[in-house]
Amino acid sequence: MRRIRLHIKNNRAGEEVFRTTPARLRAAFARRPQARGVVSARIDWDFDNFDASLATADGLVTWDLPTADLAARAPALKWIHVIGAGVDHLTPLDWLPPGVTLTNNSGVHAEKFADYARMALLMLWTRMPRLASAQAARRWDPVFTGPIAGGRITIVGVGKMGGVIAAEARRLGLTVTGVSRSGQRVRNVDVMHPPTRLRRALKGADIVAVATPLTPATDGLIGAREFAAMKPGAGFLNVGRGPVVATPALLAALRSGHLSGAVLDVFDTEPPPRASPLWRAPNLLMTPHVAADDLESYAPRTLDLVLDNALRLAGGRKLRNRVDPEAGY
Ligand code: GLV
Repeated sequence: MRRIRLHIKNNRAGEEVFRTTPARLRAAFARRPQARGVVSARIDWDFDNFDASLATADGLVTWDLPTADLAARAPALKWIHVIGAGVDHLTPLDWLPPGVTLTNNSGVHAEKFADYARMALLMLWTRMPRLASAQAARRWDPVFTGPIAGGRITIVGVGKMGGVIAAEARRLGLTVTGVSRSGQRVRNVDVMHPPTRLRRALKGADIVAVATPLTPATDGLIGAREFAAMKPGAGFLNVGRGPVVATPALLAALRSGHLSGAVLDVFDTEPPPRASPLWRAPNLLMTPHVAADDLESYAPRTLDLVLDNALRLAGGRKLRNRVDPEAGY
């Protein structure tokens, strides 16, 4: 096996949940003793030692990076691991030097996200966004809903996150429709559609959940026509990326009452500006991009994936969670 040297870039401005600390790294090596002696890793902050270290690194673990002239600055680099599922902040990926593989954290989120997904589905079903709006306005607004079992959900984007929503929806007794680029069958989804049938797939759903990555194909995917295609009284969830949904169209659908409520974890700008109409929109619950990020397990699971892939690289094997640079996810 080849020896692999990793550069791990932490961001001082980033949240603690995403950081690789020496203790977290030691624990990851203890869980994977076979990586000892094969993989070495240097933890660094922002750009303190970035260029000097990258000059000889085989792998870079990071959220972001300066992409210009990467091949010249990092001649040994074979692999970049992004510590998030979405890599839209780095797209288009035309800067990726040939021979450098990009991987992401897709799936690292699954366990915590299952709780969030179940919660959001139940909240939308029981009209919790509306009840919370009523409480904030000191209004007694009894809404009676039946059991969730027997309802219908449509999930737009059935990758790892969407797949978790599908599993939770199934457990709650919902009938599940999915939309994906390929339209191919997915576990826990009863009927799949390709994007060309998006509006048909939205019809009849009590809850519509969006979990796509942000790519040129999904930017603005859910707009006025898509909301109009949804059943009156539907609930709406976005856990993918903010720009996939046209915010003015969402606000109009909430204000008119066409949607019974929405739960959003992602936004065009995070945090949304103080002047954003989202803060005061009726029947909207906002969570600050926390649906899938878990303080106890996010960093350890990330490092498990990183060490596993580093061993694969050392052994000349294919890496897990490769991003398709053309598709952008
Ligand atoms: C979070 O949104 C991620 O992309 O990991």
